[in-house]
Amino acid sequence: MKICIIGIGYVGLVTATCFADLGNSVWCVDNDQDKVDLLNRGQIPIYEPGLDELVNKNYFAKRLKFTMNLNLAVKSSDIIFICVGTPSLKKSRSPDLQFVFEVATEISKYIKKFKIIVNKSTVPVTTGDKIEQLISKKIKKELFEVVSNPEFLREGDAIRDFRFPDRIVLGTNNKKVLKKMVSLYDPLIKKGAKLFTTNRRGAELIKYSSNAFLATKVSFINELANLCENSDIDVEDVALGMGLDQRIGARFLRVGPAYGGSCFPKDTKAITVMGDQFRTNLSIVKSVIKSNEKRKKLLTKKIEKILSNKVKNKKIAFLGVTFKANTDDMRESSSLTMIPTLSKKGAIINYYEPTGEKNEFSRLNNVTFCDNISTACLKVDLIIIHTEWNEFKAIDFKKISKNKKLKIYDMRNLYSPHKMNKQGLSYYSIGR
Ligand code: UDX
Repeated sequence: MKICIIGIGYVGLVTATCFADLGNSVWCVDNDQDKVDLLNRGQIPIYEPGLDELVNKNYFAKRLKFTMNLNLAVKSSDIIFICVGTPSLKKSRSPDLQFVFEVATEISKYIKKFKIIVNKSTVPVTTGDKIEQLISKKIKKELFEVVSNPEFLREGDAIRDFRFPDRIVLGTNNKKVLKKMVSLYDPLIKKGAKLFTTNRRGAELIKYSSNAFLATKVSFINELANLCENSDIDVEDVALGMGLDQRIGARFLRVGPAYGGSCFPKDTKAITVMGDQFRTNLSIVKSVIKSNEKRKKLLTKKIEKILSNKVKNKKIAFLGVTFKANTDDMRESSSLTMIPTLSKKGAIINYYEPTGEKNEFSRLNNVTFCDNISTACLKVDLIIIHTEWNEFKAIDFKKISKNKKLKIYDMRNLYSPHKMNKQGLSYYSIGR
């Protein structure tokens, strides 16, 4: 099929490349000239394992094309995906829909024959209705149909999540359009993906409520970890014991330093705004948002406590600063709370990040990027494991730090307390 993806970000580029890899002809459109030029030079602007080679394979097979020319892309496609960002507005908890509406207005200028317009961006309930009204101002309703098709891609696993989705959610009541969308997704459905169809608003809410529930699950185990620390229980046992219940499930029960990323924080806030707009108080999600924000400060205080509340001039090494492993994304990462707070208190901080130096820390005093674990950890007082990269899972701490009084704060419970204490290491972790 001939499709067009507008917005070449984390979701757009993965979606476009994976559809091209299924044999479709895909135009990718972005208004960022540098990004389009970079992609046409065979380089990709984001870190996503496996994406580089997949983009180049499909680019050279001429199934994947990058352009700023929306007119050309719309005219050459039957299905047009809107994949632009919907970041949280600065002053409120609502998502910023300006890019979605701008693109919808732009598309309507170039529609001359029937097109399916698919909204893949995460948008509040009724946004599909608003896009339809916007486009109807410019062209006859018979010439288009707006469908909601939310994505469930995790950064770091996005290609896998596209290829083997638990479900494909399509929000439309138009039978003809549904048939076309089903044939586009047919290769995935044939491999076992469940197809779930509902109306447009239903699909919009499924996306937000899925993320809000996952964030709730993560926050739940993080709060239980606090209880376990105060009651001499191992939270890993609790998580395993809970997860064996099919109704609960083991996934998204891993403790951590607080959830981050471009989605959970934004989507939990957005669904509570939607609730308020429809006069429904989503109190559980509101408490999850508060609990997660508090957690970042709680763990920063825990770091100070491990250093006997004497932070000034103490040397700390952070291993990983992004919001989770296998991504370069710093959005809402808990390190953005921890490192500035500790730096302000006079700590001397090294950080090693597998995806490279981060601008977010460039203006902070005494915060230095190191390009390997050993340099970051040499002679430090405290090593903090902030993300769960594989390369952090078998470190010989004694060898790399050369400090007999070294402390380790493992925020992802990668190590066994028993084994660490047996080595005489002063080891702290979460919920144990
Ligand atoms: C999420 C959703 O999983 C995905 O379906 C949606 O499309 C986009 O948002 P992503 O934000 O990439 O994906 O990351 P995810 O793997 O869900 O993790 C989100 C946050 O929760 C991270 O900070 C992660 O460290 C944390 N997390 C996740 C935990 O602390 N414990 C877990 O068990 C799982």
